[in-house]
Amino acid sequence: MDFLSTLFILVIGVAVLCIIVVFIHDKLWAKDAVNRNYPVLGHFRPFAETIGEFYRRYIDFDDREELPFSRAIRHWIYEVSDGQEPIRGFGTRVNFLKRPFFFKNAVIPLNADETTDVPVLTIGPYCKTPYKPPSFFNMSAMSYGALSAPAVEALSYGTEMAGCWLNTGEGGLAPYHLQGNPDIVFEIGTAKYGVRDQQGNLCKNKLREIAAKPQIKMFELKLSQGAKPGKGGVLPAKKVTQEIAEIRNIPVGEDSISPNRHAEVTDIKDLIDFISLLRNITGKPVGFKTALGDPQWLRDLCDEIKIRGEKDAPDFITIDGAEGGTGASPMTLMDNAALSIHEALPLIETILKEYDLKDRIKIIASGKLVTAADVAWAMANGADYVVSARGFMFSIGCIMALKCHTDRCPSGVATHNPKLQKALKPHDKKHKVANYVNQLRNEVAMISHSCGVKNIRELQKSHIGGQTI
Ligand SMILES: Cc1cc2nc3c(=O)[nH]c(=O)nc-3n(C[C@H](O)[C@H](O)[C@H](O)COP(=O)(O)O)c2cc1C
Repeated sequence: MDFLSTLFILVIGVAVLCIIVVFIHDKLWAKDAVNRNYPVLGHFRPFAETIGEFYRRYIDFDDREELPFSRAIRHWIYEVSDGQEPIRGFGTRVNFLKRPFFFKNAVIPLNADETTDVPVLTIGPYCKTPYKPPSFFNMSAMSYGALSAPAVEALSYGTEMAGCWLNTGEGGLAPYHLQGNPDIVFEIGTAKYGVRDQQGNLCKNKLREIAAKPQIKMFELKLSQGAKPGKGGVLPAKKVTQEIAEIRNIPVGEDSISPNRHAEVTDIKDLIDFISLLRNITGKPVGFKTALGDPQWLRDLCDEIKIRGEKDAPDFITIDGAEGGTGASPMTLMDNAALSIHEALPLIETILKEYDLKDRIKIIASGKLVTAADVAWAMANGADYVVSARGFMFSIGCIMALKCHTDRCPSGVATHNPKLQKALKPHDKKHKVANYVNQLRNEVAMISHSCGVKNIRELQKSHIGGQTI
C-alpha cells in the first residue's frame, strides 16, 4: 500500500471513530433532546438553522414570517428560557407598516420604586374554597396524552417554581401533574376523562375525590377550543397507552374521541345548571372554556345570569382564539372557524361590562399570547389572566416540528415513543419553564412602567394604539 492509500484509510478510520464517539456521547449524555434522539445527525440542526437563516433572510422567508410562530418569537422564548437577556442591537426588524398595535409610552415613565406588585384577584367569591391565583400568566390546558410524561413532569416542577397554575387538559389527572406540587386547574372535557363512569357519564364520586386534593384549585368545563370549535378532542390510537387508558377509563390502542358537546348541556340554562352542580360538588371555582363565534350567545348567557343572580354565574370564562394550538385537529376547522382572540377578547370585555358582570366573571385569554407584548395587550383589553400552551411547550424544547398528532415529536414533548421521550429530562427543563414565566412577567412589568402605570392591572385599552380591531 502506498503512502496516499494508507493516509486515506487512516483519515476514513479516524472519521468513523469520531462518529462512533459522538454517537455514544449523544445517546448517553447529550443535554439536548434532539441530539439524544438523533445522535450525530442532530448536530447538523444548528448548522442547517444558520444556513437556513441566511437563505430565508436573503432569498425566502424573513425571520418574522414563519407560521404559526416566527423564528424571532421562538428564539425570544428559547433565550429567556435559557435565562439569557433578549437584547438586540442596531434596530428593530419589525415592519412598522404592518404592526398590529403599539403601546402608548408615557413621556415621563415610572421609576422602579414607584411601581407596585400585581394585585392578586379572587376567583369564585361564592365558593367554599375560592382561589387567589398568584400569577396573571399561567399554563393553558394540555393533556397527559397529547404531552409526554417527562414533558408534564417538567411543566409540573416548572410551574410550581414560577408560582403559576398548570391546567391538566381534558385527559384527566396523571401522577406527573402532581409531581412538582403546583396549583392545578382540572379540565373537564366532553368525555369526562378522569371523572367518568364506564359509560362516559359524570361520576360524582370521582369528581369529589379529585376536588378533595389540595393542589386542585379550580375546574374548567371545556365547551370548545379555538383550533376545533364544535369538535371533540382526538387522541390518536398510537398515543393511547395502557397507562393513559387507565387514567382516562377507555380502551387501550383505540382512537380516543370525545363527543362534540357535554351530554348534560343542550342550552344556556343547562350550562348554568351544570356549572352550579359542579361547584356544589367540588366547593371550588368552576368556569368554562370556549372559542367564540357569534357574541349574541354571550349576551343570552348574561341575560340568564341576570335573571338567576350573579351567584349562579360561571366563576370565569376562558376565551380561546381561533389561532389557538392543538394536539390534533381537522385543518378545516383550524383554519376557518371562530373569532381570533384579537376580535373575541374586546367583545367579551365590552359585553360583561355592559351587564355589570366583569368583576364577577374573570376573563382568561389565550391564543398565541406567548410574549410579554401579547400578554400586556390582552391584559389591557380586559383579560384578568392570560394562559398559553405553546409558549410553555417552546420553553421545554419544542422545535415546532408540527408533528404532535403523529407520535413522532423529535423533542420528546408530544410523543409516547419511549425512545424519543427519554431524551427530555424534566429536571433540566423545569428551570426553563420558570425562567420563561419569570422573564415574561418582568417584561410585562417593563411595558407597564413604560406606559406610566404601576402594574399590569392598570394598563387600559387607552394605552394601546393602532389597534385595527
Ligand atoms: C399539544 C396541545 C394539546 C392541547 N390540549 C388541550 C386540551 O386538552 N384541552 C383544551 O382545552 N385545550 C387544549 N389545547 C389548546 C390550548 O390549551 C390553548 O387553548 C391553545 O393552544 C391556545 O394557546 P397557545 O396559542 O398559547 O398555544 C392544546 C394545545 C396543544 C398545543
